[in-house]
Amino acid sequence: MRQPRIFVLDACGAAGLPYASLVARLQPMDLRVETGAGAAATAIRGDAWDLGVVTAREPAEAAGLVAALRAADPDLPLVVVDAHPTVAAARECLQAGVGDYLDLTRAEAELEDALARLLAAARRRAAEEVLRRAIERPYTFEGFLGESPAMRRVYSIIERVAASSVDVLVTGETGTGKELVARALHQRSRRAAAPFVPVDCGAIPDALMESEFFGHERGAFTGADARRMGLVEFADGGTLFLDEVGELPLALQAKLLRVLQERRVRRVGARQETSVDVRVIAATSRNLDAMVERGEFRRDLYYRINVVRIDLPPLRDRGDDIGLLAEFFANRAAQEMGKPISGLSIDAYQVLRNYRWPGNVRELQNVIRRAIAMTRSATPDVEDLPDEIVAAAGHGLPAPDGDGGFFARRAEHVAKFEKQYLGELLTRHHGDVSAAAREAKLPRGTLYRLMKSHALDGATFRTK
Ligand SMILES: Nc1ncnc2c1ncn2[C@@H]1O[C@H](COP(=O)(O)OP(=O)(O)OP(=O)(O)O)[C@@H](O)[C@H]1O
Ligand SMILES: [Mg+2]
Repeated sequence: MRQPRIFVLDACGAAGLPYASLVARLQPMDLRVETGAGAAATAIRGDAWDLGVVTAREPAEAAGLVAALRAADPDLPLVVVDAHPTVAAARECLQAGVGDYLDLTRAEAELEDALARLLAAARRRAAEEVLRRAIERPYTFEGFLGESPAMRRVYSIIERVAASSVDVLVTGETGTGKELVARALHQRSRRAAAPFVPVDCGAIPDALMESEFFGHERGAFTGADARRMGLVEFADGGTLFLDEVGELPLALQAKLLRVLQERRVRRVGARQETSVDVRVIAATSRNLDAMVERGEFRRDLYYRINVVRIDLPPLRDRGDDIGLLAEFFANRAAQEMGKPISGLSIDAYQVLRNYRWPGNVRELQNVIRRAIAMTRSATPDVEDLPDEIVAAAGHGLPAPDGDGGFFARRAEHVAKFEKQYLGELLTRHHGDVSAAAREAKLPRGTLYRLMKSHALDGATFRTK
């Protein structure tokens, strides 16, 4: 978990607050000290500190210092240590949202207690903030995560065709998000208030299929003791999602084609047809073209449902999205399981990037959930990933520390490379971590952790 970053506006100068010894005892943390209100305000503007400590030397000086910092960062938790404490100053400070107002002349132990308490609170907030940011940060489109060019093309097609009622065929490997596409299309159409009816074409027994789709009249066949509405009618006004449409038996394909062309259904055993208004979205992970060639799928039905086609890219072709999705799933699982997880290790991330993901997003989600459930560390590592994934990704065993062997030597080189790379990268981007992460094609959280492991701070690369 990240240690809190503390900012000190020490108007007393080093002689005032005995912060040096206090801070030494509250280690480790990230600390910065300024002695003037102007410099302090500049330093905290646009930077994320967890706690501010203000020391005041002159009588009635505290409230002014607090106001200067408040203007720069209205949310920064503050504690004031006043050399000339007065009731009026205390009231002013507390009204300005200061968490604690302390007397500098009081015992050092009391001061330390107060700081430790505020630190604990700041640490808790920092941990919560990490989770919250990770969950809110990624670009999302109707429940999709991912910013890769391949996915942006998908969003753009969805945006363009959602509102019209054209039928859509969604193709893609298993777990790529075909159902998400269908739901997004429905949500963004004028049919959103009507039902979205998913039908798993591979899961309905052949004998029941016709009546499931089109319904039946009472007594239409043995066991039909009541009149029943079919799925097509049920979707009237809304969207019928034909999942795994390639599994439909040929006989039903012919009947379905008629319904789609005429927009009318006839229940099994009925004389009359009923008109229906449905939009059909079909999905398949099979190659329908090849099935048509082999005579397993009707060509006319294929043309009918293939008006607009959305082809979902496999996860391995989505580049950085893997890291983004992994971080999101890790944080969500950590929150659900109540585990303090700050993200995956850089090595674990590398393994995820190298793996082929035949089960795509669903497989990634499961692998991450398992890793979070199993791990004993705040930063799940390669050892928390399933062996077969690590092996398939061609990742070496982690090196034992400093044994002079190949892995240890390699680790030294890697560390040297990382430090130099990060230094150059951050210099180029003037300490802008988001921009640096984009260039490095690393998730921002991963880059932060990498920087932290080399004790690098974006602020030191900033140019004024
Ligand atoms: N881009 C994405 N961002 C976030 N979650 C996603 C994304 N793509 C898929 N998922 C999630 O992954 C899981 C699988 O998605 P979905 O069921 O839509 O895939 P599918 O293509 O229909 O899979 P199958 O072929 O196995 O039916 C779901 O939990 C879904 O929410
Ligand atoms: Mg599906």
